[in-house]
Amino acid sequence: MLKGRKSAVGLDIGGSCIKALEITRDKYDYIITGYGQIEVQSEADRSDAIRELFAQCRFRTKKVVTAVSGKSVIVRYLNMAKMSDENLESAIRFEADKYIPFDIEEVQIDTERLMDIPGEGGKESNEMKVLLVAVKKTLVEEQASMLQQCGLSPTAIDVDAFAVGNAFELNESLSPGMEEDKTIGLVDIGANKTCINILRNHVSLFAREIYLGGNDFTNAITRRLGVEVYEAESLKRDPHDREVEVQEAVSPVIEDLGNEINLSFDFFENQYDGRVGQVYLSGGGSMLASLEEEFEGFFERRTRIWNPIEGLKIKSDNVDIDSLNKSSLQLAVAVGLAARAI
Ligand SMILES: Nc1ncnc2c1ncn2[C@@H]1O[C@H](COP(=O)(O)OP(=O)(O)OP(=O)(O)O)[C@@H](O)[C@H]1O
Ligand SMILES: [Mg+2]
Repeated sequence: MLKGRKSAVGLDIGGSCIKALEITRDKYDYIITGYGQIEVQSEADRSDAIRELFAQCRFRTKKVVTAVSGKSVIVRYLNMAKMSDENLESAIRFEADKYIPFDIEEVQIDTERLMDIPGEGGKESNEMKVLLVAVKKTLVEEQASMLQQCGLSPTAIDVDAFAVGNAFELNESLSPGMEEDKTIGLVDIGANKTCINILRNHVSLFAREIYLGGNDFTNAITRRLGVEVYEAESLKRDPHDREVEVQEAVSPVIEDLGNEINLSFDFFENQYDGRVGQVYLSGGGSMLASLEEEFEGFFERRTRIWNPIEGLKIKSDNVDIDSLNKSSLQLAVAVGLAARAI
């Protein structure tokens, strides 16, 4: 069964945890045909962890899609005069130093037209919104060569925040009705960073990374309770009888992160008319008890955790369904990556 169907592995090389999720497409169905994840302590462990994952998971394909993130990835939304694709490419190259803080020769550039910008009184204007992504070539090359050395075929490299958007869009198409508002904020809280992606009518119009995440919750517990990091990590996941202390420890970090996210919503709302109506949380960091309610109060808008694998089917003979379900919130990036290539 499912032989000859298109499959791809979304490989999310996260700061704390590497996730590999294989999705196979069978007409309108998206089926999880393999899954595994491994926690990693340092960058040096990554390639060993990836080899181990692929040895364990019995994936049917070696085709992988990964993502990059961090300060070597520049994302800009530009207003440009309407022009042809060729002219757009050269216009951006010509003005690159206005947008990109690196030498143009050091980066790989990708552009995408997003939408026409309406003129005064709803009339047509001669401007369009363009997405510019510039990634340091060294980052892309190192990642691709590391994967090749692991015996894999990297087919595309995306950016974390866009992969989250892609996963959300896939879920929305598989279980319509999830999105009630036209403008939504996706917030994926990882270990070291939080990705924000604001979509309006299915188009990403704002993306940003904030360098705060689950590790900062853990570190706050370590400091406040005077415990070792591994104890703090375990208390964060299950505080037992120390709920109040854990809550007090993480509260300032929740506030800092909430403030930063709110700044992004404000920035977006100042640029574009209309509110970010709903916020959808994902990422391992969003499993922190009470975060959903706290953020909802903070953002003053409906805020919900969403499950990135909800609309997908599962091939149960090659997937440990319990561990998949336990970690499902961590899988937004991996789902978005795999879905892109099938
Ligand atoms: N049950 C839980 N409760 C609270 N936090 C949790 C729980 N399970 C995992 N986490 C946290 O989730 C984080 C890992 O999430 P995730 O896999 O989304 O991050 P990552 O992709 O590795 O990191 P990044 O996106 O920053 O590169 C860790 O900080 C971990 O402590
Ligand atoms: Mg992540």
